Amino acid sequence: MRNIDEHNITDAVIARLGDGRDARLTEVMTALIRHLHGFVREVRLTEREWEQAIGFLTATGQQCDARRQEFILLSDVLGVSMLTVTMNQSRPEGATEATVFGPFHVDDAPHCASGADIAQGAPGTPLDVHLEVVDLQGRPVVGAEVDTWQADEEGLYDVQRPELGDTRRARGVFLTDAKGQVRFSSVLPMPYPVPTDGPVGQLLLATGRHPWRPAHIHFRIRAPGFAPLITHLFHEGDAYLDSDVVFGVRSSLVAEFERVGHGDAARHRLRHRFVLAPAQAPGSDLPA
Ligand code: BEZ
Ligand code: FE
Repeated sequence: MRNIDEHNITDAVIARLGDGRDARLTEVMTALIRHLHGFVREVRLTEREWEQAIGFLTATGQQCDARRQEFILLSDVLGVSMLTVTMNQSRPEGATEATVFGPFHVDDAPHCASGADIAQGAPGTPLDVHLEVVDLQGRPVVGAEVDTWQADEEGLYDVQRPELGDTRRARGVFLTDAKGQVRFSSVLPMPYPVPTDGPVGQLLLATGRHPWRPAHIHFRIRAPGFAPLITHLFHEGDAYLDSDVVFGVRSSLVAEFERVGHGDAARHRLRHRFVLAPAQAPGSDLPA
C-alpha cells in the first residue's frame, strides 16, 4: 500500500499484524494502534511535541536500574497501575481490598519471629502492630506469610538510603501463629513524596501535581489455598488520603494508628484484621 494518508494509516498498520499466531497479542496490538493513532489525531500532535515525547520516554528508560523503576512510577502516577489492580483484583464481599505494589519491596527482607522489632534503628515514633489473618468465614489462617515494608519518619525506605548498603530495616517477613496472628514493633510511617528527581517528577511539576503519598504500611500476604493479597494500611487523618499521587487509597484500608502514652513514652498502636479470598474464587480474576 502506497500514498498512505492520515485517514487510512491506522487500518494499514493493523493490517500488517500478520497471521495472529498469538490471538491475545493481536487483540492488544490492534487496540493499542487504534488508541495511539486516535490520541495523535485528537491532540493534532506536532512533530516538535512528538520529539519531546520520545525524549521523555528515553529519559524514563535511562533512569531505570536495579534499584529504581521509573516506568512503573510513570504507570503509577498516570493511574495505569491502579486501573490494572482494580480490574484484576475484584474480591468477594468481605475480603480485604488490594492496592498498588510500589517499587520498594525487596526479595531478601529478614524473616522474623512474631514480636520482633523490625525498626532496627529506623527513625520514628514506636509503633506496635497486631495483625490477624482470617478467611471469609472469620477462621484464622495459620502459617500465612505476612511480608511487610514501610518508610520511616523521614519518609524514606531503607533502599533509599545509600549509607545503609544492604542493611534491611522497617521491613520483615512473618508467619501467622496458631491463632492466625502476627505482632511486631516498628515506627510510625509518615507521608512521603515519590521520587521527583527524574522525568516523572518533571511531569508532575509541569502538570501542577504534588508528588505525595499518604502515610502507609505495605503488606503482601500469601497462604496456600488463598489468593495472594498485596495491599497497604493507610494512616487515618493523613492530609493526602484524598490526593494520593498514585491513586492507591481505598476507604477500607484506612486504619487508626492509635496514640498511646505521651511525650518520650508516646507510642502508636495499629490493630487490623486481613480477610483473604480463596484462590480462584468463582467469577473472579484473582491469581491462584
Ligand atoms: C509505594 O508506596 O511504595 C509507592 C507506590 C507507587 C509509587 C511510588 C511508591
Ligand atoms: Fe510505600
